[in-house]
Amino acid sequence: MNAIRTAVFPVGGLGTRFLPATKALPKEMLPVVDKPLIQYAVDEARAAGIEQFVFVTGRGKSAIEDHFDRNHELEATLADKGKDELLRSITDDLLDPGTAAYVRQMEPLGLGHAVWCARHLIGNEPFAVLLADDLIHGDGPCLADLVATHARTGGSAIAVMEVDADEASRYGIIEPGDRTDAGIEVLGMVEKPAPDEAPSNLAIVGRYVLRPEVMELLGSQGSGAGGEIQLTDALRGLIGVAPFHAVPVRGTRYDCGTKLGFLEANVALALSRHDLGGDPRRVLRAILET
Ligand code: UTP
Repeated sequence: MNAIRTAVFPVGGLGTRFLPATKALPKEMLPVVDKPLIQYAVDEARAAGIEQFVFVTGRGKSAIEDHFDRNHELEATLADKGKDELLRSITDDLLDPGTAAYVRQMEPLGLGHAVWCARHLIGNEPFAVLLADDLIHGDGPCLADLVATHARTGGSAIAVMEVDADEASRYGIIEPGDRTDAGIEVLGMVEKPAPDEAPSNLAIVGRYVLRPEVMELLGSQGSGAGGEIQLTDALRGLIGVAPFHAVPVRGTRYDCGTKLGFLEANVALALSRHDLGGDPRRVLRAILET
């Protein structure tokens, strides 16, 4: 049995960087090629053995519930017309009945607050957190590597990637200790450090396996940077209590929370597809040459 059974998907943010698109549409439903961001995250969780899916939602996010629910009318129409491949594309993605739960954050008070809102559904088990706007493509599911580290250590694990010095101030940066077979020991972490204060070039990516004690820490901490309840602040409280490792991301991570990262993901994933009814390379070349 997989030791990590439940994943939390915080999807309660306002997505202001994508306004006006996100005024009525959840950011996590923005499509990369033809699949919404949240579907990539759920697929990655499934590939890591996750069995229960907790979505922390907010106002205007009901499209996410509809996406993972059955649409009998559409299914019947596609079946009548013999469009079997399209029918599979909407039924293969469905979560099994009773495995998805939705909890409202009520106010977007920060990522840490969103995770805390799932506490009653998590109980006393370690759990995963996936941020759908970090899309990770290629070279095996990132979350599975964190689950494997947890299986070895019983502790927490987070995904990291190398960033340039001038980019460190956009991320949470870890202070690394020994490199072991389980990953890089985490000795500390700093949220958005000034370039000369970054303890390493290893930035935290939106994939976590956390021990349940984090919920208590989140519940008792006040707001941090930007007036929000920050997950990084609570993670710091887990260091030294039980093993805590960082695991470098294999594959490529696209920051789909920014317009350029979202564009990059769409181009990269389109180029990796052969079923788009044309040659995406030729299309892109033509645009670049005009
Ligand atoms: P972001 O930091 O990208 O914030 O959240 P945001 O509100 O979605 O987007 P911007 O900055 O206004 O453009 C990272 C993830 O954490 C979730 C978001 O939904 C996103 O998946 N989140 C953030 C919450 O669930 N609740 C919050 O209060 C904040």
